[in-house]
Parts: sequence; C-alpha cells; structure tokens
Amino acid sequence: MSDLAMSKKIEVKSDVKKVFLTGAGGLIGSHFAEILQESESIDPVFLVSGLTNSGEKLSSEAVITKNLAKESSLDGLADEIYRRYGDIDVLVNNAAITTQNGIQTFANDTSDKRIQDVFQVNSIAALSLIRQFLVLPKPPSLVINILSRGAVAGGKRHVAYYASKAALLNASWSLAMEYSQTRFVCLMVSQIARKDHRGVSLDLIGKALIDQIDGTSNRKNFETVFFLKPIEYWRYLIGYCFNLFRNSRNYGIK
Ligand SMILES: NC(=O)c1ccc[n+]([C@@H]2O[C@H](COP(=O)([O-])OP(=O)(O)OC[C@H]3O[C@@H](n4cnc5c(N)ncnc54)[C@H](OP(=O)(O)O)[C@@H]3O)[C@@H](O)[C@H]2O)c1
Repeated sequence: MSDLAMSKKIEVKSDVKKVFLTGAGGLIGSHFAEILQESESIDPVFLVSGLTNSGEKLSSEAVITKNLAKESSLDGLADEIYRRYGDIDVLVNNAAITTQNGIQTFANDTSDKRIQDVFQVNSIAALSLIRQFLVLPKPPSLVINILSRGAVAGGKRHVAYYASKAALLNASWSLAMEYSQTRFVCLMVSQIARKDHRGVSLDLIGKALIDQIDGTSNRKNFETVFFLKPIEYWRYLIGYCFNLFRNSRNYGIK
C-alpha cells in the first residue's frame, strides 16, 4: 500500500468514534444501540447488567456484562474496557434503575436498600465511570448522561430516582468547570411516547444523541438538552426559577 493510501486509511479510521453505552438493552438503550450500530462512523461498545437477557440482540464481541449495582463491578472497569476495546471517545451513561419510588414506598421501606441501589446505579456507577475514564491516557472528548427532566426541579412519585439524577447533573456541571478537554452533555429526557400515552419519541432522543456525537468541537463545555415544545420549555424554566426563589431567603451579609 502506498504512503498516501496508508495515510488515507488511517485518516478514515481516526474518523470513527468509539462510543461506550451503558444500559444498552433497555427501552432507550436498545434504540441507541441500534442507531449506533447502523452508523459507519461509530464503533459502539455496550454494557448490559447480566440480570436480564435484554442485550440478546447486541453483537456479543462488543458487549461487556457488569451489574452496576455491585460496587465491586466498578473496580478497574474503564481499564478493562480500554484493554479490550481501546480508547473510548464518547461515554454514554444511560443505565439506571427507573422504578418508581413514590412517597408511600419511600416512607414504608424498612431499610435504605432501595435508595442505595438507585444511587449506586444512577449516580455512583456513572460518576465512577467518568472518574475512571478521565484518568486514562486519552480521556473521552464527550460524556453524555441520560437524565430526566425531574433532575432539575424534582417531581412526585420518584423520590430517590430524581435525586440520583440531580446528583449526576450537578456533578457533570462541576466537572465541566474544570475539565476543558471533555464536554459534558445531559439529555433531560421526559416520558417516552407509548401506545397509551403521549411523550417524546425515541427517534428524537436518538437524533439528539447522534447530533451530540457528531457535533463540532466549538460547542459549549456543558449543555443540558430538553425535549419540550418551545412554550413548555419556557414555562418550565420560568416556573423552576420562580418556585426555587419564591421559597428562598437570603440573610444578606455586609
Ligand atoms: N423511559 C422514560 O420515560 C425515561 C424518562 C426520563 C429519563 N429516562 C432515562 O433514560 C435512561 C434509560 O431508561 P429506559 O427507559 O430505557 O429504562 P429501562 O428500559 O428500564 O432501561 C434501563 C437500563 O439500565 C440498565 N440497568 C439497570 N440496573 C442495572 C445494573 N444494576 N447494572 C447494569 N445496568 C443496569 C438495564 O440493563 P439490563 O437491561 O442489561 O438489565 C437497562 O438496560 C435512564 O437513564 C432513565 O433514567 C427514561
């Protein structure tokens, strides 16, 4: 092969982004997995829990199985991924315990196990992966966290879930202030449309994911992406600020 052809081949290869996606067998994850696999410029690696057989359709050599609810599963996980698949360009933290934890369930629980599991998977595992990847020789240039609108303003029926998502939102923002080489993006997903109720389409969320992965380098270091009608978006923003500050008090210091 001539030098020119060789350099072209290398150029093409370097255009391919390696994307690591957790929760790849779930409702949103399997849609993401499908579009990542379809893209010629993306080489995906998936994480499934092994607790279900949801990742059956994924190509087995690109799948890593870890139960993120177990603290020990996180030990050296990014190193293991690096050894098996090389540098990861984009980390997508999508895995989450999504079950409702309404106020009755929350109050009637006799132990903290449910709260601990939710925080372990939704915030600690995601943050641990970010931490581990950031210290690798080539950290990901992009971290995408799949969050929920309730991470901003809370909401009914999901006490621990929203709180765990809020932790990751806040951490991403804080990290973006210090890590200029990595962008942090939070997709603030609202309810997914299904036969029996309206909501956001999987297609739209998938498009947002690809848009972020393909995005140009001059984007902001920290971004939250909402999926609302423009009027709803502004109502949400204003309502959030109003509710937060309506109930706040400031003991002015001199
Ligand atoms: N669906 C919605 O309406 C909605 C709304 C707002 C935000 N979101 C967010 O979107 C993301 C995906 O949600 P989804 O609707 O697709 O939920 P889902 O179908 O329940 O999928 C959740 C995924 O998380 C993985 N997971 C759960 N526990 C795990 C563990 N212990 N170890 C490793 N992986 C674990 C599951 O992996 P396995 O399948 O391998 O077990 C599953 O693939 C979540 O972050 C969720 O908070 C969803």
